[in-house]
Amino acid sequence: MRKKRNNKITFPPVYMIDAREIRAVTAVLKKGPLSGFVGDASADFFGGPVVKRFESAFAKKFKVRHVVSFNSATTALHGAVVALSIGPGDEVIVPPYTMSASATAVLMNGAVPIFADIDPDTFCIDPKSVEKKITKRTKAVMMVNLFGQTGHMGALLALAKKHKLSVIEDNAQSAGATWQGQYTGTVGDIGVFSFNVHKQIQSGEGGVLVTNNKTFALRAQLARNHGESVVPGMPGYAAGPIFGSNYRMTEVTAAIAEVQLSKLDFLNRKRVALANRLTRKLSNIPGLTPPHIPKGNTHVYYSYIMKMDAKKLGISRAELVAKLQKLGFPIGAGYVKPLYLLPLFQKKQAFNATHFPFDYDGMTQEYRKGICPVTERMHEQELIGTDVCQHPYTAAHIDAFADAMREVIAAAKKK
Ligand SMILES: Cc1ncc(COP(=O)(O)O)c(C=O)c1O
Repeated sequence: MRKKRNNKITFPPVYMIDAREIRAVTAVLKKGPLSGFVGDASADFFGGPVVKRFESAFAKKFKVRHVVSFNSATTALHGAVVALSIGPGDEVIVPPYTMSASATAVLMNGAVPIFADIDPDTFCIDPKSVEKKITKRTKAVMMVNLFGQTGHMGALLALAKKHKLSVIEDNAQSAGATWQGQYTGTVGDIGVFSFNVHKQIQSGEGGVLVTNNKTFALRAQLARNHGESVVPGMPGYAAGPIFGSNYRMTEVTAAIAEVQLSKLDFLNRKRVALANRLTRKLSNIPGLTPPHIPKGNTHVYYSYIMKMDAKKLGISRAELVAKLQKLGFPIGAGYVKPLYLLPLFQKKQAFNATHFPFDYDGMTQEYRKGICPVTERMHEQELIGTDVCQHPYTAAHIDAFADAMREVIAAAKKK
């Protein structure tokens, strides 16, 4: 009976665009311009009307003073590094368990990412490991709010204060999550959000940088729009030239992002309800640990991540995942390879064969296997994750997933 129900459940690709986004885009297409940015010292330097309207709506929603839209979170992260004046000879402490851009944004400005290990409960950077990596070259630390929530932010902020470090939040995966009642992404000096196609809200590509610091916001706005060619005319800009690029958001993208923003709370409420149901359904399975949410955090479940103990469950991770995948459930083992194991770091080759900035100005980096043992253990042995908690999936999807998980584990135990 149960098997039959599982077979009926399918997980079609998630696509959340409807008539509202189509209307908003059509309005832009009919009227134009498709991009409102110009490259001189005028109000248009900061973008077109829809970009500005979207930035204002985002600032209001997230209760943050400055919002600077970008064409991705990757470019926004680079904007953050530029805004904080971090460059060659500087170090930024980052977690290795994250999408590669969290670390490569640092390299893009000629600074070096230093990897600190993660906490085994939240999977976010562990302040205790960060403390061991601080040197006189450290300028900032990055909290990547991974899978839908932040980590031990209080301890990280205290550490940053003690050592006078800036805090960058990569909040690409956690739009709408909170820490101590404040939206994650708005807690550190600068935060970054993503609207790529996989995120809670999406505009195909896109991102924003948020900050309460006026100087950082202006530097990010300059970095976004070829700062080097307009600096002399920019009102109020005193800190010297900025080497920028074209990181501008189009009016079409902003129109989609604006509508999506209005759906964020609804989409997150659904994710949370489904995730809570899944946690209830998976409780009391010895060897399976549902997501841990530290006191003071709310989680928005970009991904529903569990830990498993193969011995206690009586089944290997590979077998459990393969069996569930075969039944049609979206589940995977581990997340991304710890970043320092990527060829970029192993070969220390960012700018051809120069080994810059890894070996530079008396510094040399070692990106050995084993430098972040918790990350490696999570990735290689313990972590499993699923995307069953997204809209438009339903309680029936959750129940089918949980039933299948229990059945596969029970069958393995009988063997
Ligand atoms: C944690 C994290 N940081 C940064 C990014 C980069 O986002 P984008 O694709 O918008 O550049 C992603 C995207 O997957 C991410 O998950």
